[in-house]
Amino acid sequence: MDKKITIAIDGFSSTGKSTLAKQLARHLGYAYVDTGAMYRSVTLYAMENGFIDSAFFNSEGLTDCLDDISLQFLFNPDLGYAEMYLNEENVEGKIRTLPVSNLVSLVAEVSAVRAMLVKQQQHMGENKGVVMDGRDIGTVVFPNAELKLFMTASPETRAQRRFEELTQKGNTVTFDEVLYNVQERDRIDTHRKDSPLVKAADAIEIDNSDLTIQQQFDKVLELAKNALAVTYP
Ligand code: DC
Repeated sequence: MDKKITIAIDGFSSTGKSTLAKQLARHLGYAYVDTGAMYRSVTLYAMENGFIDSAFFNSEGLTDCLDDISLQFLFNPDLGYAEMYLNEENVEGKIRTLPVSNLVSLVAEVSAVRAMLVKQQQHMGENKGVVMDGRDIGTVVFPNAELKLFMTASPETRAQRRFEELTQKGNTVTFDEVLYNVQERDRIDTHRKDSPLVKAADAIEIDNSDLTIQQQFDKVLELAKNALAVTYP
């Protein structure tokens, strides 16, 4: 039997969840699933099909079309991780822009969207050996995950990281716009009715405001080794 565990990484936006998840998955030979990319893709679909813009949201219209949305992660060997495809189109570039970030929390409040995505996520992780990051992985998707992490950092630290990432990719944004988006998403994500962002009782909190990426990885790899040793004594 393969000795594999499920690693659930939840936390606020821009806390470096995906950086850590990718490092862990590569090191352990596990699959990495970025669930935020799935919510972002549904949001992009809603934007491109006229169900949402900054002034209105036809959530019922979107709910009626959920069967037309096909999401796939396809591994890119050059990058070493899987990229997101929406109805056969690679949408990695399109889903990580500020317009999508500004609307994604509204789409993520819709229970029918959550139910569809949670089911797909549970299917992807049914054989363990997966590192999944999001907001509800340790609480809803995999409440029995052997290792649960909850990532935090100050809003300013997170906005600075996201600002650098966006400007490096050529997006024209101001720091204040990004900070506002980070704080607004925190507010909506923690207050929504269905599966709000909350630390699972058995999750280990990691505040990485003052940790380098390497320090954080070393610390978490140790936790993963412990979880493996406890699961397979
Ligand atoms: O991780 P991210 O910033 O790419 O996620 C984008 C949004 O998707 C986030 O603001 C809330 C939502 N989300 C969610 O509700 N549940 C998840 N498991 C993952 C993301």
